[in-house]
Amino acid sequence: MSGSEPVSAQQKSAEQAGAGQVCGCGPRPPAGPPPASPGRPASSALFARALDVLPGGVSSPVRAFRSVGGAPLFFARGKGARVWDEDGREYVDFCMSWGPLALGHAPAPVLEAIGRAAALGTSFGAPTRAELELAELVRALQPLAEMVRFVSSGTEAVMSAVRLARGFTRRDLIVKFDGCYHGHADYLLVKAGSGLATAGQPDSGGVPAAIAGTTAVLPLDDEAALRAFMAARGHEVAAVLIEPVPANCGLLLQRPEFLRALRAECDRAGALLVFDEVISGFRLGPGGAAARYGVRPDLLTYGKVIGGGLPVGAYAGRRDVMRCVAPSGCIYQAGTLSGNPVAMAAGRATLEALRDGGWDLLEARSQALEQALRPLVEHYPARLVREGSIFWITFQDPPPRAWGAVDRSGAARYARLHAALLARGVYLAPSAFEVFFASTAHDDGAIAFTARAFQEALAVAFAPEGSPEAEPGPAP
Ligand SMILES: Cc1ncc(COP(=O)(O)O)c(C=O)c1O
Repeated sequence: MSGSEPVSAQQKSAEQAGAGQVCGCGPRPPAGPPPASPGRPASSALFARALDVLPGGVSSPVRAFRSVGGAPLFFARGKGARVWDEDGREYVDFCMSWGPLALGHAPAPVLEAIGRAAALGTSFGAPTRAELELAELVRALQPLAEMVRFVSSGTEAVMSAVRLARGFTRRDLIVKFDGCYHGHADYLLVKAGSGLATAGQPDSGGVPAAIAGTTAVLPLDDEAALRAFMAARGHEVAAVLIEPVPANCGLLLQRPEFLRALRAECDRAGALLVFDEVISGFRLGPGGAAARYGVRPDLLTYGKVIGGGLPVGAYAGRRDVMRCVAPSGCIYQAGTLSGNPVAMAAGRATLEALRDGGWDLLEARSQALEQALRPLVEHYPARLVREGSIFWITFQDPPPRAWGAVDRSGAARYARLHAALLARGVYLAPSAFEVFFASTAHDDGAIAFTARAFQEALAVAFAPEGSPEAEPGPAP
């Protein structure tokens, strides 16, 4: 339905009654007072306003703080490792815009590059030197990226890579792994079916079952399940798609043997192996996870760091495959703002700074953060998981490697830890199953501050409920 179509009387009365039947979500409870963030009246007031005009008050769901409770913070500015909210409170930030900001907030070289590019014109819808130079830089850093196509988000990158794999192999089925997130294309919003060989099921309203059925979902960390599935249906598979460092369901580090098994099974079946490096790409060094694990995918997808905080995604890989993309091939994909010169300039400045010492500094900062936090965290029944500058706290020992092994009850403890850290000026991602990120800007001062906050916040999070040490959490 287009946005301008009139709403039917039936829909209207259902909406007015708050019955929520129009979209099939089922009855919703009547809206109570808007959630508030204690001691942050400006953020709370902005959120109350936002709830009236933005669905859920946000532009992307997890920002709404639903899994940790309370109202989200509204940020006014950021510099280096720090952000300031609309109430003027300061935080050391580890969400880092969910990963793009490997150099921290508002790094000078990136701001200068953006300024120079914007002054020359913000968009042409025509080829520019900027996209060529970023593509050449990407290929110099990751030689598996023989050809590169720029898009504007990680979702678009993965969606386009899947279409390319389907067109190239002339097959429809894709395999993904339970717990991995690849953006919000219909056939990727799919959860595991009830049996291994069953098709995936929609994980969101609005996804047709027939489309979800073109995706099969397998467990991570399980060569036997992979081999059994590929033996039965490998000849139908266009692409096996994985986050090689699964970082959207906690940080579920995979054994290299599992990633090698993916390569072998794809070779046997004539399917393409697609590494979704939207998080790991250019964060784990120039070659990302592919280089770190020594496994060669056919296609790579990028987002986040490649745009240095501006909207950039890319898919890249084998020349013979990439040449099938229009206009050199018949697989269509396009974008008005693709290769946007301002965004390309931000990406290039970011990757150059990382290449010129940034990756070494990022690793040093991440090691220092690990050394500061690990003893504090592991004093409790909790573990700190790290891959490069990507971190996760789990309350399971040993840390899980598959989503099916993740104990979801840890979310309640995380919500307490999150609230206690927020009260002490440390901002983690507002969800137990999201990772947190270091940047080159997390210097010794920021790390020492964070360690002090963690020491106190962990004591609060692990204090028996109702004891004097347990602080009240955020308003529900
Ligand atoms: C691994 C992975 N792939 C794809 C996406 C989608 O990227 P975007 O949010 O830029 O559309 C994300 C987003 O977090 C991601 O983590």
